[in-house]
Amino acid sequence: MAKVGVLGTGTWGMALSRVLADSGKHDVTCWSALPQEIDYFVATKRHPNLPGVPIPDEICFTKDIEEAVTDKDVVLFAVPSVFVRSTAGKAAPFLKDGQIVADCAKGIEEGTMLFLTEVIADEVSKVCPGKKLRLVALSGPSHAEEVAVDIPTSIVSASPDMEAAKVVQDVFMAGCLRVYTNTDIKGVEMCGALKNIIALAVGASRGMGYGDNTTAALITRGMGEISALGVAIGCDQQTFNGLAGIGDLIVTATSEHSRNNRCGEMIGKGIPVKKAIEKVGMVVEGINCLPAAVELMKRHDLDLPIISAVDKVVNGGETPAKMATYLMGRDKAHEFD
Ligand SMILES: NC(=O)c1ccc[n+]([C@@H]2O[C@H](COP(=O)([O-])OP(=O)(O)OC[C@H]3O[C@@H](n4cnc5c(N)ncnc54)[C@H](O)[C@@H]3O)[C@@H](O)[C@H]2O)c1
Repeated sequence: MAKVGVLGTGTWGMALSRVLADSGKHDVTCWSALPQEIDYFVATKRHPNLPGVPIPDEICFTKDIEEAVTDKDVVLFAVPSVFVRSTAGKAAPFLKDGQIVADCAKGIEEGTMLFLTEVIADEVSKVCPGKKLRLVALSGPSHAEEVAVDIPTSIVSASPDMEAAKVVQDVFMAGCLRVYTNTDIKGVEMCGALKNIIALAVGASRGMGYGDNTTAALITRGMGEISALGVAIGCDQQTFNGLAGIGDLIVTATSEHSRNNRCGEMIGKGIPVKKAIEKVGMVVEGINCLPAAVELMKRHDLDLPIISAVDKVVNGGETPAKMATYLMGRDKAHEFD
């Protein structure tokens, strides 16, 4: 029996909490920064984005982050990437030294260029100097909508601290979830952050009416771009071939459940970017991650055409048709697969 505190009650936080609670093995306490959300869950036992999935009575809800964090075996960060730092700041005083903290948000912080487990460590060390956490990234091909209804899913618990990765593996290995471990936390976080940008490109190509050939090209070359950036910062090439790498890219770039894919599709159909994000109604992490990806590309002097093309459309006001012209008409004498 493990005590798990879940920070963030979006679709992913709630889907994972349900699996943990239904396993009968764990005590789950969920916290949200939005008090009205907690009132809604307690009153209805439903999540608005997971209709038809009952929230188990065993899950305890709290508006008090101290209660969600204190005395837990594992604290799970499940807030969108832009709220990871503020949530870490609020949780910091109650996290014990040596606390195992798993993060399942995907992204790179704009400005600092930190991965999200690094953001947590950075903020906690600012609020509580000297406090050290055992950080794990939980990632891989997993739609909340499918985990919520027990569809078999494999994910990755990644940490250079293999003991901590194994604790998280054991906690989440339940029912429909099979959890693998990996020591390459940077590689796993790089894949989780950047695959969303490639999914935007695939969605846009679908929205423009292109077919499977284009999708396959964008996925394959997109994975090449992600691994080029990863290898440049010292990640393990093997990670890009695994669940957190190609696995997560496939699930995100090909599924109707993917907000990044859906958002890209609307952009491809000519809907303005802001409107497309509003229509998705949930976090579109690929958009949030673009500035950091472009900055990384510049820092490592890499020419990554798919990421650049998405940035030109999302932040540069280019039309998706221009993006296609740019990708297909690049002036290169030789290109290797
Ligand atoms: N949904 C999935 O299938 C899935 C799967 C794997 C990873 N992830 C990652 O998990 C993270 C969360 O995704 P999600 O799908 O749950 O997003 P979501 O859009 O459903 O999250 C919304 C939630 O964020 C929280 N929130 C809102 N404002 C906040 C604030 N000011 N401070 C702190 N928290 C606040 C609230 O609990 C709200 O319900 C993302 O980084 C996503 O990439 C999602």
